Amino acid sequence: MLLLHCLALGMMASMASGQPHARASDLYYTDITPVTDDTRYTSLNPDTQLTEMNKVKHSKGNIVFTAGDRASGDRLIVNHYDGESFPSAKDVEVLMSYPAGASTGVTLTSIEVYVDMSADDAGGYLTKGGIGQTNVEILLTSNTTRSFVYETFIYGY
Ligand SMILES: *[C@@H]1O[C@H](CO)[C@@H](O)[C@H](O)[C@H]1NC(C)=O
Repeated sequence: MLLLHCLALGMMASMASGQPHARASDLYYTDITPVTDDTRYTSLNPDTQLTEMNKVKHSKGNIVFTAGDRASGDRLIVNHYDGESFPSAKDVEVLMSYPAGASTGVTLTSIEVYVDMSADDAGGYLTKGGIGQTNVEILLTSNTTRSFVYETFIYGY
């Protein structure tokens, strides 16, 4: 019920503003991928500086990562959702990159990532670009988890 309500509001909002939603192709993303210490992002990219996103734990296994703030005139440019379960606990990572191809010219104002997993903890990092820039790369991590679900919202103007 709540989900339907949110979907309806989202559609009304996008019709009212007359702005198209992001094409799926605007966001590049990996599968929710099991990693080892040899294949995790920080091992493959030892020179990349990770910037931790703001992190709020709402309850066990439920975390919201944010960066930046909504600004007047911005709009939702990416809404992406994925989830995966594993038969045994895995260390997992997801990498998202906006835009997937050539610059869209959109300046990013706010990034929100809602994460839900069976493990207690997760990490959310910006690895490239970010707020005030026209590109961003986002890394999500969680160790020894049997499930991982996330939804990403990126706003800009
Ligand atoms: C997962 O484990 C790796 C390697 O021990 C560690 O560097 C990383 O901080 C852990 N991530 C989380 C979210 O706890």
